[in-house]
Amino acid sequence: LTGTATAAAGRPVVNVAHRGASAYAPENTITAFELAGDLRADMFELDVQETRDHQLVLMHDTTLTRTTDAEEVFPGRSPWNVGDLTLAQIRKLDAGSWFSGEHAGEPVPTLGEALRTMSGSGMGLLLEVKSPGLYPGIEARIAAELRRNAQWLSPGRLVVQSFDWESMRRFHRLMPDVPIGLLGTPATAELPSLAEFADQINPPYTTLTSSYVRRVHGLGMEVLTYTVDDPDDMRRMMSYQVDGIITNRPDVLRDLTDA
Ligand code: G3P
Ligand code: CA
Repeated sequence: LTGTATAAAGRPVVNVAHRGASAYAPENTITAFELAGDLRADMFELDVQETRDHQLVLMHDTTLTRTTDAEEVFPGRSPWNVGDLTLAQIRKLDAGSWFSGEHAGEPVPTLGEALRTMSGSGMGLLLEVKSPGLYPGIEARIAAELRRNAQWLSPGRLVVQSFDWESMRRFHRLMPDVPIGLLGTPATAELPSLAEFADQINPPYTTLTSSYVRRVHGLGMEVLTYTVDDPDDMRRMMSYQVDGIITNRPDVLRDLTDA
């Protein structure tokens, strides 16, 4: 494979912890990323968005209401969009209590914090640029943050992915050496032109077929599939020869691959 993004010699499949080990800790927090390492994930995944003052923060939804207490802390700021609040405001939020009392007070991390805190973890990073259409220029700001944390730019450590393929074309122009993943299931006719800049095609497992995996491999790209938490589905995906599985339960996948 030309991608070289994640495939590790001697491992049947790359184990990617989705939003961290998010079955067991609040998603997109440092605690969830550290737990992913404890559970022996190979990589952790996170979602990057931008605050009103153009700071990069980790959040899956474009609104803050599901995973923080934004409605209580900032009443009247409906609909509590990530991009409507400043970093200082978002740092006042509790991103752990929604998950469990044990995680009360867990902050929303910045991308820079995650890069610095996790740099010694030995894990790789699957960095999703979430809803970049809402944040013009976010690709350049992510590239700048990665250059400030250049340990992540060593080969095999980082993949940048998005559902927005045009955003990934832009990112590739900014950082041509960083492997690119495209989320979704592009039509097979589109795959050759996408292979000009992409290293991975990362589809949902629910509609993935082994012939699609073969087609992607034939173009020199890898396949990482999401979000697979059931051991039977994991086994089926491995039988399709996927290169990686993105899971909320990296321990479950590790038990299978160690067996
Ligand atoms: O990494 C794959 C997965 O994260 C894409 O879906 O909605 O969980 O960001 P989502
Ligand atoms: Ca994601």
